[in-house]
Amino acid sequence: MQYQSQAVSKPYFIAAIGLFVGQILFGLIMGLQYVVGDFLFPAIPFNVARMVHTNLLIVWLLFGFMGAAYYLIPEESERELESPMLALGLFWVFLVAGALTVLGYLLVPYSSLAAMTGNSILPTMGREFLEQPTITKLGIVVVALGFLYNIGMTVLKGRKTVISLVMLIGLVGLAVFFLFAFYNPVNLVLDKFFWWWTVHLWVEGVWELILGSILAFVLIKVTGVDREVIEKWLYVIITLTLITGIIGTGHHYFWIGTPEYWQWWGSVFSALEPIPFFAMTVFAFNMVNRRRREHGNKAATLWALGTSVMAFLGAGVWGFLHTLAPVNYYTHGTQITAAHGHMAFYGAYVMIVITIISYAMPAMRGRPEGNGPKAQVMEMWSFWLMTIAIVFITLFLTAAGILQVWLQRIPETGAMPFMMAQDKIALFYWLREITGLVFLVGLVLYIWSFFVKEDPAKA
Ligand code: HEM
Ligand code: HEM
Ligand SMILES: [Fe+2]
Repeated sequence: MQYQSQAVSKPYFIAAIGLFVGQILFGLIMGLQYVVGDFLFPAIPFNVARMVHTNLLIVWLLFGFMGAAYYLIPEESERELESPMLALGLFWVFLVAGALTVLGYLLVPYSSLAAMTGNSILPTMGREFLEQPTITKLGIVVVALGFLYNIGMTVLKGRKTVISLVMLIGLVGLAVFFLFAFYNPVNLVLDKFFWWWTVHLWVEGVWELILGSILAFVLIKVTGVDREVIEKWLYVIITLTLITGIIGTGHHYFWIGTPEYWQWWGSVFSALEPIPFFAMTVFAFNMVNRRRREHGNKAATLWALGTSVMAFLGAGVWGFLHTLAPVNYYTHGTQITAAHGHMAFYGAYVMIVITIISYAMPAMRGRPEGNGPKAQVMEMWSFWLMTIAIVFITLFLTAAGILQVWLQRIPETGAMPFMMAQDKIALFYWLREITGLVFLVGLVLYIWSFFVKEDPAKA
């Protein structure tokens, strides 16, 4: 750590990991409810658990991105953060708002929560991923503005690099597209149309810029390759991302009442979306192969390489699988979608946040060359356990999805009722649940690795 103020990222990273644990616990609850329908009924209904699982995911990733920015922007800008106090204050605002929101989901019925929080004044609730009460959404905007001010001023007053510029564009885009969460037209087609401007233009647009910039930062540090080389790659990657991803939004406009031409625009452009993800894989491996130094933090390098591979598999390959309109006609909203959602979110955004934590935390704890060997070995175990678990969760859900389509959606082989088809694929849901437990073990090991004491004789 070169600048004192980088330390404000520490609470952000700790909160991120804490909420990650919560996310996985609710995933496991839901996974069990899939096969034991009345598990925890009526205390935690499936729809509530789903909301908590997905919202915690988004919130902890946002904590991770903010932590990443607070860590890498001072180093890139070669100056202290504009206001570490503001960063710490906003941390608590965000954490308390997030905790209250989750408690609201768990303790009162959703409609009461809507009434209590004045949803009728400015209705924004009730849409997947955007379930937060309107006041929480306003809180998010306040936090985002303060955060952007802090990061923006640091960049403006300091050294300007491609990495900080790309990250800043990504973060501003993240805030701008969130504003569509406040637009909730009565017309359902319009509602869905703009809902994707937040959801799709985040993960297949501006978040990819954040991903690219964090990856580039860590690769510069662990490989010692010239900044100029890495910057050229970054330019190419973000250009490809935006060219394919923006019009690629059309892959969500096939069946929601939008004009038919979206079937072509959506299919063609989104079919090209795997290219920037593939470029990231080639980029990461190339840089590590051309490295000019041996960095002691092997675990962070492993996470960086892993991100590039898993993002390509989850977003690129599993996205492509169902992105052409004639295929999506059959697979839309099945377990194929869930399979892709899990591997893409894990591979791209979960892994990049862990990458920067893995790099930055040891540095902030006085170990610039990474943790000792024992801790790193444990961390690498957690890498493999979580990553292999998500691969298997994806494979089981893909199998479930293929069967689901076959049983339920193909008139020649039988248009079985939904619940009957679900019964037939229960085996895969059991396997998903067991694999989910392996994932949890990996996560526990990850946390444990922070507390490993090294053998003083060897260290
Ligand atoms: C890291 C990037 C990505 C993430 C995190 C992600 C995540 C998701 C999630 C969570 C959904 C489900 C949304 C919902 O209906 O609630 C989804 C849907 C979808 N994604 Fe992605 N995705 C990513 C990249 C891609 C890419 C690159 C492609 C295409 C090559 C793609 C193709 C699709 C399609 C076609 C759907 C709609 C599925 C349906 O009709 O049910 N995704 N994605
Ligand atoms: C880092 C790991 C994980 C990530 C990133 C993640 C992400 C997600 C996302 C994005 C969705 C919404 C999917 C969609 O709308 O298509 C979802 C739903 C779900 N997740 Fe996870 N999840 C993770 C781990 C788990 C685990 C370990 C389990 C359980 C074993 C689990 C069980 C579920 C279930 C049951 C749903 C609901 C699917 C449905 O509505 O049919 N998740 N998760
Ligand atoms: Fe999309």
